[in-house]
Amino acid sequence: MRRRLIRLSLALTALLSAVIVTACVADPPGRVGGDGVALPGVAATPPMGWNSWQPFGCSVTEAQVRAQVDALVSSGLRDAGYRYVVVDDCWNASDRAEDGALQADPTRFPSGMAALGQYVHARGLKFGLYVGASDKTCTQYQGVYPGATGSRGVETRDAATLASWGADFVKSDWCSSNGRHEDQVEAFTAWRNALRTVGRPMVLSINPNSGVAGTPPGQAFDWGGVATMTRVTNDIAPNFQSVSTIADAVGLVAPRTRVDAFNDPDMLVVGQGLSASHARTQMSLWAMLAAPLMLGTDLTRLSSENVATVANRAMIALDQDARAVSGAPVAGDAEVWSRAIGQKGLAVSMTNRTSKPKLISVSLASLGLTGDTVAGVDVWTSKRYQARDGALAVRVAPGDTALLEIV
Ligand code: GAL
Repeated sequence: MRRRLIRLSLALTALLSAVIVTACVADPPGRVGGDGVALPGVAATPPMGWNSWQPFGCSVTEAQVRAQVDALVSSGLRDAGYRYVVVDDCWNASDRAEDGALQADPTRFPSGMAALGQYVHARGLKFGLYVGASDKTCTQYQGVYPGATGSRGVETRDAATLASWGADFVKSDWCSSNGRHEDQVEAFTAWRNALRTVGRPMVLSINPNSGVAGTPPGQAFDWGGVATMTRVTNDIAPNFQSVSTIADAVGLVAPRTRVDAFNDPDMLVVGQGLSASHARTQMSLWAMLAAPLMLGTDLTRLSSENVATVANRAMIALDQDARAVSGAPVAGDAEVWSRAIGQKGLAVSMTNRTSKPKLISVSLASLGLTGDTVAGVDVWTSKRYQARDGALAVRVAPGDTALLEIV
């Protein structure tokens, strides 16, 4: 009897431990792909680079990409940190090769992708390519480009092809109204698993949103266990309204950000019609968000003022801060955001979304600060603002952002 009791209690203990272990390794609520990051070590800080989609769309050519590579170098943007050169949709031929491999469009990319990868690497840059996560790429799904060359079911083979061309970055885009959440999880996880074993470190950038009705899946789920960077919203448009709306949406999911797992608010559209103040605002908010900084413009035509904005050292240092936490609105105020930086530092952004100059003020208490000695230096203007009566106040020009580092 006693023995039986001991056996029963051992069995119960084993069962309980199994339950506890299962509970510990299970996904935290809402996080897809598990608690760990998808591809450890590929991106300690948010990836920075250039993407072809905004400036060139589906008519992108090899000559254009080479010219962008040259411009990244000559403008100093490579040395400022913009390293990934990503060729988006339409680089591929509308048919796969006889053996099933993806292949470059022979007319627009006559030298092929391996040669382009070499051109990119020879200039100290990294190489990225777009793929369709479902059965088609986005333009194929929309019927504006022929074929159905999506990677669903052949992720491992496509990862190997991209690796053989020297790719360092894969952008995998859902863009389909076919499929449930489970199908997206399977498709993106297959890419993650393929990149884990392909033998070459690659960033995995995913967009689960396009083609899907309702709340964008990038907002609804934390994909940090599946991808290095995840688009949270649908495509950015080159205007202040779009920049503003996207920043707000991404600010809501700020706690997801960590090393190797970044929320992606889409490309920087500086140079695509944003005014100088709106350009500063986009750069400030993207840096506050610890967002990937992908230039979505024709760099051969970028004005020196815009080059200076996106190359601003303080903004890049903020974006790339090693703590890799995202800033978020202070007490739900969309105008004022704070972000922890460095060992114990703090950055505070104040954005004027109106069309008139505006005095924006934030209480020290809401920033967790006290004392008369607190001051902020606006890193765009180098002006110093001393706290008064327990608050920091800055007059901000219409559409502009003051980015204070607290000293
Ligand atoms: C969209 C995606 C864009 C771009 C485009 C290419 O789904 O959001 O960033 O990749 O497809 O067709």
